[in-house]
Order: sequence, then structure tokens, then C-alpha cells
Amino acid sequence: MRKNIVAGNWKMNNDLSQTQALIADLKQQKEAGRCEIMIAPTMPNLYNACELLRDSKIEVIGQNMHFASHGAYTGEVSASMLKGIGVNTVILGHSERRTYFNETDEMLAQKVDAALAHEMRVIFCFGEELKDRKAGNHEAVVATQIKNALFHLPERAWKHIVLAYEPVWAIGTGETATPEQAQEMHAFIRKAIENQYSAVLADNTSILYGGSVKPNNAKSIFSKPDVDGGLIGGAALQAEDFFTIVNAF
Ligand code: PGA
Repeated sequence: MRKNIVAGNWKMNNDLSQTQALIADLKQQKEAGRCEIMIAPTMPNLYNACELLRDSKIEVIGQNMHFASHGAYTGEVSASMLKGIGVNTVILGHSERRTYFNETDEMLAQKVDAALAHEMRVIFCFGEELKDRKAGNHEAVVATQIKNALFHLPERAWKHIVLAYEPVWAIGTGETATPEQAQEMHAFIRKAIENQYSAVLADNTSILYGGSVKPNNAKSIFSKPDVDGGLIGGAALQAEDFFTIVNAF
């Protein structure tokens, strides 16, 4: 059975004291228990976040990692370093990483392999740009991203993969895909997994939507049958807003 998940991607926001304050606020919130909850603070604050949330239902996850296990890669962190501080899930392939840090499908395939080799769970992000959607290429673009980074995996590896469809034109713009657009793409992705692997695997894979999910639109997006949760940016920086979204299931 696939899981419902709401994950907050804090991006490059919140220093140590702000991280501690937001976590304290998050711990005060009531949750309905209908989904898994995750937050992705910045790298320097991950360890402290893990300590603060040790006995909580909120899982602390990484925003990125390198594919090498160690070595001369200035500024990077490895899967084993994340695992060593208690981070067992990592976001890979976010469009900001692809755009600003030139991450390619090939690099992402290596990162996915490295995460899985360390028994980490991956939230794998992909999505089309506005020009692709306008040209009607959005399904082809997304299918290629998924195929290039994930379709080399054996079926058994997929229990560690969560997908996050994030149309680039909807990230941080206030513009959201309509629930119908999200559903249409999620159903397309599920079909692609079925064609490559099996109907059972397709049905068991969680597919999150990301891109301007807010307290006032989360319910309608999450109500769609193939939307299994959200990857939340801006609205994850405020505890009440984040939990309104968590409780939208
Ligand atoms: P947003 O970001 O909610 O601020 O649009 C989503 C994301 O980047 O995952």
C-alpha cells in the first residue's frame, strides 16, 4: 500500500535559532495521523533537528547529497554522513538543483544509486518547465526524466523511492497546477511505471505533488486519487500553515 506523505522543503532558509524555533512550533501542532510528516532543514542544522525530533513523528530529511562516498568534493556531503546523524531520507533532483547547480539525469541516477546503496529513502523530484507545457511536451519531458534516473533500478529497489512531480512553473510562483492537471500527470506517471515494471509496483508507489501547495488548496489537490501527498516549500516555513496542509488528508 502506498503512503500519504507531506514533506516540507525548507530550502536555504532558517539559521540555527530559527530552525529550533520552528521545530518547537511544529511540536505544538496537532496532527490527524493520516500521513507521514517530514521536514528538510539546511545541512548545518540537520543534526540538531534530528536530536530535537528524536521522539517525534516528524522525520528529518536531507535536501541533497553527493553520489561519492567521500573524497575531494568541496562543499558536498555523502549518504553515509547523512545516515550517520540519523537522516534516512533525501530529496534528489529538485528543479533548483537541476537549474542552478547543473544536475543532470545521469548525475541523479548516480545519486539515487548511492542513496539506495546506503538504504536511504529517496524523494525523487522532476517536472516540466513552462515552455514544455506550452508546447504540449510535458508528459514526454517527465517520462524522460524518470526513465533516465530511475528505470535502471530493479523492481525491489522501488520500495525506497517516492516520486515528487513538481512543475517548474509552479514552484515559488504562487501559481499551482490545478488538481486536474496534477491528477492527469500523476496518472500518466503511474501508467509509465506499470508499463516498465508492474501494476502492483505502480499502485504501491507514492507520488507527491509540489509547487505552491498552500493551506487553501491542499485539500483539493490531495483529494485526487493519484496524488499521495505534497512537497511543500514556502508554506512549510510556518508551523500552522504546514500543519493545515498535513491535516488536509
Ligand atoms: P513552493 O516550493 O511550495 O514554495 O512552490 C515547492 C518545492 O520547491 O518543493
